[in-house]
Amino acid sequence: MCGIIGYIGKKPAAPILLQGLRRLEYRGYDSAGMAISNGETIARIRSVGKIDSLSEKMKTVEIPGTVGIAHTRWATHGGVTEENAHPHTGCGGKLILVHNGIIENYRELKEVLSSSHVFTSETDSEVLAHLIEEHLKQEDLQQGVVALRKAVEKALAHVRGTYGIVVMHEAVPHCLVTVRMGSPIVIGFAEDENSHEHEYYIASDASPMLAYTKKVIFLEDGELSVLTREGMETFTLKDEQVQKHVEEIEWNDEQAEKQGFAHFMLKEIFDQPTVFEDAIRGRYDLAEGTAKLGGLNMTEEQMRQINRVIFIACGTASYAGMIGKYAFERLAGIPAEVEVASEFRYRDPIVDERTLVFVISQSGETADTLAALREAKRKGAFVRGIVNVIGSTIARETDGGTYIHAGPELAVASTKAYTNMAAVTILYALQFGRARRVSLATGHRMLQALVEIPKKMNQILVQTEHIERIAKKFASYQDMFFLGRGVNFPVALEGALKLKEISYIHAEAYPGGEMKHGPLALVSPEFPTVAIMTKDQLYEKMMSNIEEVKARKGPLLLIATEGDEKAKEISPDVIYVPETMELLQPLLNTIPLQLFAYFVAVELGRDVDRPRNLAKSVTVE
Ligand code: F6R
Repeated sequence: MCGIIGYIGKKPAAPILLQGLRRLEYRGYDSAGMAISNGETIARIRSVGKIDSLSEKMKTVEIPGTVGIAHTRWATHGGVTEENAHPHTGCGGKLILVHNGIIENYRELKEVLSSSHVFTSETDSEVLAHLIEEHLKQEDLQQGVVALRKAVEKALAHVRGTYGIVVMHEAVPHCLVTVRMGSPIVIGFAEDENSHEHEYYIASDASPMLAYTKKVIFLEDGELSVLTREGMETFTLKDEQVQKHVEEIEWNDEQAEKQGFAHFMLKEIFDQPTVFEDAIRGRYDLAEGTAKLGGLNMTEEQMRQINRVIFIACGTASYAGMIGKYAFERLAGIPAEVEVASEFRYRDPIVDERTLVFVISQSGETADTLAALREAKRKGAFVRGIVNVIGSTIARETDGGTYIHAGPELAVASTKAYTNMAAVTILYALQFGRARRVSLATGHRMLQALVEIPKKMNQILVQTEHIERIAKKFASYQDMFFLGRGVNFPVALEGALKLKEISYIHAEAYPGGEMKHGPLALVSPEFPTVAIMTKDQLYEKMMSNIEEVKARKGPLLLIATEGDEKAKEISPDVIYVPETMELLQPLLNTIPLQLFAYFVAVELGRDVDRPRNLAKSVTVE
C-alpha cells in the first residue's frame, strides 16, 4: 500500500519518476506527487487522484533536475486531499520525504514536535519529516551526506511502526537516503552510458526499474542506504556498515506492459497458459510420476513426520490454498486446512514441529500473512513460501518454498498468480502423495494432465467473445450467487470475489449443498446464480442444487464440461470448459469466471485495473 520511488543519476528525473509511479499505481491511487532537486532548490508537485492527474498537472510546469522522489498514496491517516499527498516536508520545505507504512506513535511525536514545528497535513508520514529536521542542526549540514544520514538514524530511533522512506534535503542536493522497516525497499543500479557515473533507482518493488537495470539489492528491516552518484553505502540503524548482496531480477520490462490489451487484468488473464508452463517447468519427473520441488528443503524422514498441513494466506491467495487443501488430503492423505492470515495471527494456533505451513502470497509483502508466518515459525512449524515477487519479505523469511513464476501482476485483481499458486500447491501435494500412497500410474497420469493444462486454457480463452456477450447480459443485475461443490467451491469463492472487487456487484459464494439452508430464500428472477457443474464425483448433487435454483426462477450461468448437453437444456447461458482430472479442474474453471467478471466491469464502466478502495499490496493490517 502506497508506492514510493526515488532516482539519482544524470537523466532528467521527472519522466523516470512518472513512469515509475505508473508501475507502482497498483499499490494505491488516491493521490500522487513528486519532488525534484535541480541542485539548488527542490520543487514539489502533488495532485489528488490517479497518476494521470499528476501527469496532467506536470504538463503545466517544468520541474528540471536529476535527483528526485515520488509517491502514490493509498490513504490510511488523513483524507484524500492534496495536503495529505506525499512528498511531505519539514518546516522550511528543505527536507522532503516519501513514506510507505504506518507510524504507530505519530500522535505522541506530533504532540511533542508541535511546539516548534508547523504541520500542514493530517498524515502520520509528515511527522517523519519534522522529526528528521529536528535532529538535523543547521551547522551539521556542512558535513552533507553524513549529517543527513545521522539525522535520519537519530530520528528513527524514536519511531514505532513500519516505514519504507526516501529522504532528500536541499542542502545535500546529490543524495538520497532510504530506509526500510517493515515496508519493502529495492535499490536498482546502473551506470550512465556516457559518464560511467552511478545511477540508482529506489522503489517499493522492482517493476519501475526493469527498463533500466536488472541488478538490485533488497534492503532488510533496519537497514539504511545512502546513495550519491559516486556510490552507495548501507548501514544498520545502529550505524554499523553492511555489505549487500547483488541479485539479478528475472522479470523483464515487457512483461510489465499491457502489450496491446485494454487492461492489465485482461493481459494477465491471457498470460495464464504461458506462465503456467513457467510454474511447472523443471518441477516434476514424468518417469517417476512425481513432483520435485527443491524449495521444500525437507528430508524424507521429515516429510514422513508431517501430520498436518496449513495454508495461510489472504483473499484470492487463500482460495488457491483451498485447492491445495483438497489436493493434500486426496493425494497425500494428510489433514489440511486453510487459515485466513488475519485470523491465524491473533489466535493461539495449534502448530508444532510436525505441522507444515505453506504461506501463499503474490506480493510476498501482505502484512497479515507475514505476521502469521512469523507466528508459525515461532511455534516451531516447518514454514514454506509460495510466492510470486522475487526477493519479497515473505520469500526471504520462509525457510524454503517455491516461486510461482507468474511474472509481474499489475492489475489489482489477481488472476494469473492464483492459477500458478494453485498449480504449485498441487505439485507439493503430489510430491507428498508419491512419498506416501499415490501409485506411479496415478502420479504419471496427473502429470500428463498437468502438462495439458496450458493448451486447455487456450481453448477457454478463444471463447472470449462468447463470454463477453454473456457478461453484458448479466451486468445489469445487482446481486449474484456463485455455487460450486468440492474442489470447485474455491472456484466459486474466487469467481464471486473477482466480480465484487472490480464490478462492485454484490456476489456471494456457497457450496451448492448449503443453498437450501438459507440462501435459497434470495433466489428470484432478479438474483442470478453462476454455477460450476463440470463433471466430477459431485456432478449429480450439483445438478440437484441447480434445479432448485431453476425451480425458483433464478437465472443461471453454467460452467459445464465440453459436450455436456444437459447444461444447455437447463440454461441458455453456458460456458464450456475442457475436461481434465478432477483435482486440476479448478485451474480451468476459474478462467471463464475471471473473464466474466472482467467484461461485467468493463460493461459497467469500472476502472478495472484500479478498483475503488483497494490496493494490490496490502502492507497494513
Ligand atoms: C483479489 C486479490 C486479493 C489478494 C490478497 C492477498 O483479487 O488480489 O484478495 O489475493 O490481498 O495478496 P497477496 O497474494 O499479495 O498476499
